[in-house]
Amino acid sequence: MTSSFPRKVIFDTDPGVDDAMALYYALAHPDIDVVGITTTFGNVHVEQAAINALYLCTLTGRAIPVTLGASQPMVKTAEAPPTYIHGVDGLGNLPRRVDATGQLDTRSSAQFMVDMARQYPGQITLVAVGPLGNLAAALALAPELPTLVREVILMGGTVLEAGNVSPVAEANIWNDPHAADVVFTAGWPLIMVGLDVTHQVILPLALFKSIAEHHQHVATDTLYHAVDFYSAFYSQHDQIVGQVHGCYGHDVLAFVVLTNPELFTLQTGRVRVATEGLAQGQTIMRRKDISYPQHGWHEEIPHTQVCLKVQANACKDVIKTTLMRNWLRPSA
Ligand code: RIB
Ligand code: CA
Repeated sequence: MTSSFPRKVIFDTDPGVDDAMALYYALAHPDIDVVGITTTFGNVHVEQAAINALYLCTLTGRAIPVTLGASQPMVKTAEAPPTYIHGVDGLGNLPRRVDATGQLDTRSSAQFMVDMARQYPGQITLVAVGPLGNLAAALALAPELPTLVREVILMGGTVLEAGNVSPVAEANIWNDPHAADVVFTAGWPLIMVGLDVTHQVILPLALFKSIAEHHQHVATDTLYHAVDFYSAFYSQHDQIVGQVHGCYGHDVLAFVVLTNPELFTLQTGRVRVATEGLAQGQTIMRRKDISYPQHGWHEEIPHTQVCLKVQANACKDVIKTTLMRNWLRPSA
């Protein structure tokens, strides 16, 4: 019986500061093998997301395929990127950048996902931490994809916790609700890591300062700069986070649930996404076994495993321990 680790992962991302934290967590962790980075619009325009993905890999001395993906939502009009949270450049407005190496893989993000799933049937885990247009496009390219992919883990949505872009909607889902509903009803093994758990894990800026001081490396220096900018937003706008002077780790938890599932409490149920109107972007979960007259909750809709609780302190410890590992090489 071969070990199920390291897990081959395609990281679908809109870097983005917490996306950068998540990427570095994945590169640092021995149980994760990032075989590709597929980019999407969201925190930045998709072109900047791809530039940032290549840049973050360059800093760590790794050459990982990076692709350009969805530039706008499937149906709704794209919102302006939240430059006030992640910076205009998506990484906290870095004062300078070293010359990035590497060229984009010429395939679209969706085609890359399909090719890899066909090349490694049953082995690829999609970890998606941005709007879900690439996954929806991959499903359109290959309807058999849910039978080829090992698992999908997405950072997005919220069930019991208030939203962060409306009282009921989380940003990734809200940015492309039609794509999200396609993903939640595709029938693949799916774990939702939403605000119900990511709002429990506040990462102090001081943690990233200590990681940078420990490594003395351009990659962790860059991450610290980015988190400093990102933390300023959360500390000014969120009273709870402001007490710590830190930020929500959001995307990192999509990898922590992969490496340390024992820290999470999950409930399985059908999840659908409101695509129009005041509640657009809401992830609605059928949590009671009731046969509803309202259309959309019929038996054929697949189930999602939703993270509802997390051992927050243990999660923070795992993030710190992992990023403190000896994982960095001389930057390229
Ligand atoms: O709501 C948080 C999510 O939106 C995270 O993925 C963050 O990077 C932004 O994309
Ligand atoms: Ca993200």
